[in-house]
Amino acid sequence: MRKRILGIESSCDETAAAVVADGREILSSVVASQIDIHRKFGGVVPELASREHLRQIVPVVRDALAQAGMKLSDVDAIGVTQGPGLVGALLVGITYGKTLAGALGKPLVAVNHLAGHVHAVFLEAFKAGREVKLPAVCLIVSGGHTVLYEVKAGDSNGPDQGGLLRYRKMGQTRDDAAGEAYDKVAKLLGLGYPGGPILDRLAAVSNGAAAAVKFGPTKTRGNPLDFSFSGLKTAVLYHVREHPEYSAEIRTREEALERGERKFEQLLPLCTPETLALVREFQNAVVRDLVDRTMLAAEDLGVESLLVSGGVAANSQLRTTFEQRGKSKGFEVFFPSRALSTDNAAMIAAAAYERFRAGVFGDALLNADPSLALA
Ligand code: KG4
Ligand code: ZN
Repeated sequence: MRKRILGIESSCDETAAAVVADGREILSSVVASQIDIHRKFGGVVPELASREHLRQIVPVVRDALAQAGMKLSDVDAIGVTQGPGLVGALLVGITYGKTLAGALGKPLVAVNHLAGHVHAVFLEAFKAGREVKLPAVCLIVSGGHTVLYEVKAGDSNGPDQGGLLRYRKMGQTRDDAAGEAYDKVAKLLGLGYPGGPILDRLAAVSNGAAAAVKFGPTKTRGNPLDFSFSGLKTAVLYHVREHPEYSAEIRTREEALERGERKFEQLLPLCTPETLALVREFQNAVVRDLVDRTMLAAEDLGVESLLVSGGVAANSQLRTTFEQRGKSKGFEVFFPSRALSTDNAAMIAAAAYERFRAGVFGDALLNADPSLALA
């Protein structure tokens, strides 16, 4: 009998529920995004996020079950994100998950959100019939995280054999996450929120016009596998401040955003070639940094597989650069689909299955852990 796990995710600004069979087949995956609510603040407002999770959690879980053609009583276990994330947001999912598990008499499984992002890669690989050879290096890169892990099979067991994966943190950002840098740069350029998708598309159409500025590699003293993005964001800010010619077009775009015109097709005509070149140089710098350090980690360890997950893993240039550089160095590169890259509950259900099989359960005392480590 296949084990069907209901996953619940509420760590940040997506309320999500999904049903995954045997940790590999997605029967349903529902994501209610709060982007429209947080957009006018240019970032996630924790109090609003909790309130919205409360509104969404019941319909989202109901939808996920309906799309899987299941009743609550058909579920074999409930997996819920314990952390890291916003405490009030996490508590909504945890309280609901605990209540369901208690009422139904089903096992509860606590999941680390970052392990979820790793499992998003496995879900995609299973679907494509590809084997992820372990150990691997995994880059998790999102709005809240930029971190490199070594991912190893548990003693003689891989994710497929019922053992728990083991994680070792190799490096992380010392300041902003890469997605946060995207969001802040988009905001200061009058390009709306979230910044990643629009900057990704604008960088791609920049027609090679010479950039007035180039951003060199960031230096992090000590661990060469640590990242830093706040200097880059500040460099963009200073560049814009030193060139007053940007201010009129930024204002024009901000007015367009206020009218609700935030689509790529609407903003592109409001961008000068200089702005497009600036966006391209910003993205070149982020992608180069993410790829360089991840390749360094992979070469240091001598692994064969490179995994990349999290919201920024949806970035087109990051994907093609990893594919090209990975191929030239003999690494096999794995990405989740774009839908599985950003926060979702299928990855939480998949990560929960691994713990379910290993018999690691949460109980009624399970609490949110906003800074839960993955180690
Ligand atoms: O994983 P995610 O949905 O939520 C967090 O856990 O943070 O990631 C959201 C982040 C945002 O910062 C967003 O700007 C970024 O991922 N993002 C992208 C792209 N799509 C989303 N960054 C660069 N390129 C993209 N295509
Ligand atoms: Zn995430």
